[in-house]
Amino acid sequence: MAILVTGGAGYIGSHTCVELLEAGYEVIVLDNFSNSVPEALNRVKDITGKSVKVYELDLLDRIGMEAIFEDNEIEAVVHFAGLKAVGESVAEPLRYYHNNITGTLILTETMQKFGVKKLVFSSSATVYGTAETVPLTEDTPLGATNPYGWSKLMIEQILRDLYVSDKGWGIALLRYFNPIGAHKSGRIGEDPNGIPNNLVPYIAQVAVGKRPHLNVFGNDYSTKDGTGVRDYIHVVDLAKGHIKALEKVATSPGVDAYNLGTGNGYSVLEIIAAFEKASGKTIPYQIVDRRPGDIAVSFADPQKAKKELGWSAELGLEEMCEDTWRWQSQNENGYKE
Ligand code: NAD
Ligand code: UD1
Repeated sequence: MAILVTGGAGYIGSHTCVELLEAGYEVIVLDNFSNSVPEALNRVKDITGKSVKVYELDLLDRIGMEAIFEDNEIEAVVHFAGLKAVGESVAEPLRYYHNNITGTLILTETMQKFGVKKLVFSSSATVYGTAETVPLTEDTPLGATNPYGWSKLMIEQILRDLYVSDKGWGIALLRYFNPIGAHKSGRIGEDPNGIPNNLVPYIAQVAVGKRPHLNVFGNDYSTKDGTGVRDYIHVVDLAKGHIKALEKVATSPGVDAYNLGTGNGYSVLEIIAAFEKASGKTIPYQIVDRRPGDIAVSFADPQKAKKELGWSAELGLEEMCEDTWRWQSQNENGYKE
């Protein structure tokens, strides 16, 4: 019996494949490599010494998807595949909705057809919209401010409705906070296309000399130092959360959302300082206007995941920065030679 990992070549997917293989699962990856490269999976194999069956396929290819379920004994699906750039989703909403929502519909329809009813879905803390009453619990009112966020919220609703229609499903909606860091080996990590949108990949490229300085988006928020506060979580902790969620959906049907965060909030200036310490590099920065759509503070209450999944984050900010730096300094151009 195998676990199908959609988007398994991506940043979080590749780290989760490592944890799955090390936990003894058989892993099958489906990815169209629209935002990743096959090399990531070669490295997953190197790290674990285990093999992974890889299908280069688009979620939207129903016939190809059915063939995967026909040819393999799939026990459960971990569903990462999706487009995730907020700004791009505003510019190209139809592409985002089609890829993320139609892709998920084709996946779940195929699962239903083949009687596979265990699913772990990559949701996001973005489903809390502009809520600023922290810590955010799973019961915080939901909202979205852009098509990417709406696609996550709509998929959560679709999966809840699916469970109502058939109580045999076990579905975990994992709401990730801000994943950073990389595998300890320095062999896999986040490899953004073009200019990074997110803070830590941007800082890492400044540290390695690829960009002259960081723009800090606003220092007039009502936070400890005026800069935005987020709950950064090590990608390996996050990956381990998927194993716990799989164990849960394997044994108990239901549909549940879980925050995967640490419960700690760090400001942009604190992240810069931690990264400088980990890398021994100075990160030049300048304060610029706020980024439209940003909120001041976001951090998780991770108690539900602890209680119901037996999961909590173990790695601190120091390791997150050290591991990001190891990956970035050993792979200046990511997976490109
Ligand atoms: P990523 O872009 O590195 O990985 C996504 C993978 O899905 C890529 O390998 C891409 O090629 C693949 N993919 C996209 N559309 C596809 C399609 N139609 N068919 C087949 N493959 C397709 O992103 P990530 O950071 O690893 O994120 C994984 C998931 O977690 C995404 O759903 C994302 O929205 C969600 N998420 C990410 C973050 C974050 O900060 N990284 C935060 C919250 C939620
Ligand atoms: C962003 C997305 C969110 C997504 C999350 C994934 C937006 C508006 N939101 O959230 O939907 O789920 O990534 O991890 O894009 N910052 C700078 N300079 C930079 C980059 C960021 O100062 O060059 C600041 C931001 O203002 C913020 C913090 O750093 O306060 C973190 O930003 P980022 O890494 O983009 O994550 P989020 O804003 O939480």
